[in-house]
Amino acid sequence: MAVVYSPSIIVHGGAGPIKDDSLAARLEGCKAAALTGWAILQQGGAALDAVEAAVVGLEDNPLFNAGTGSTLNSLGKIEMDAAIMEGHSLRAGAVAAVSGVKNPIKLARRVLEDGRHILLAGEGALLFARQIGFPECAPESLLVEGEKKRWQSKHGTVGAVAFDSAGRLAVATSTGGIFNKLPGRVGDSPLIGCGTYADDYGAVSCTGQGEAIMRLVLAKSAVDFLHEADDIEAQTAARMAIAHLEERLQSTGGIILIDRSGNIGYARDTT
Ligand code: GLY
Repeated sequence: MAVVYSPSIIVHGGAGPIKDDSLAARLEGCKAAALTGWAILQQGGAALDAVEAAVVGLEDNPLFNAGTGSTLNSLGKIEMDAAIMEGHSLRAGAVAAVSGVKNPIKLARRVLEDGRHILLAGEGALLFARQIGFPECAPESLLVEGEKKRWQSKHGTVGAVAFDSAGRLAVATSTGGIFNKLPGRVGDSPLIGCGTYADDYGAVSCTGQGEAIMRLVLAKSAVDFLHEADDIEAQTAARMAIAHLEERLQSTGGIILIDRSGNIGYARDTT
């Protein structure tokens, strides 16, 4: 008889200082997203579906810098990054610098299911969306009226990691990137191993300054800590990864992680 595991899920809504009074609402948004994924896991659903659904919830919440509410680049445009990965199969899909889609994580999932490539960027991602009949939206519809000013202090990324009752791990990460970035800039989130990674030992989503996270290939590094020794659990690996980010590059960020036993870990060195 197949083993039935106890599922788990963790989400993040970005790490960094919150300069307005939105903390309570952000926590509510994270909780709602986690519960959306949790409902899928409780019904025996797949970790991959749970992380996608959780991240869709965060993308649709204008408080978070992903999907609706994404930050603006130096031309005042929204360009978004997202990735999704399944641990046991190592299947992954990602989109980078994409505009005109409401839920980049859903498009990343379609790249994963398509299977030919892992990362599609910019116009190419949009062309793929059109070819598969993926719904498009007006780029301005993701820009919430009257919120431009607040977006200038917007930071972060959203992410979800889940472990399902079949013992499978998955991760999804989505972001509008960093404010005032150059057009075409791609952050860590859609790069497999940098902001997003899953294998059969662990699944990880990172948030923080993408350029630092990329230099350390942080998500894969965190999973490698789990490979190193059986007594390194999710929480230890998460702390080690953030310590590495701080010590090696004096950078700040956050990480969420689930190991192959379903243990949850998270760490941050921001407020
Ligand atoms: N970590 C999000 C970004 O730098 O794009």
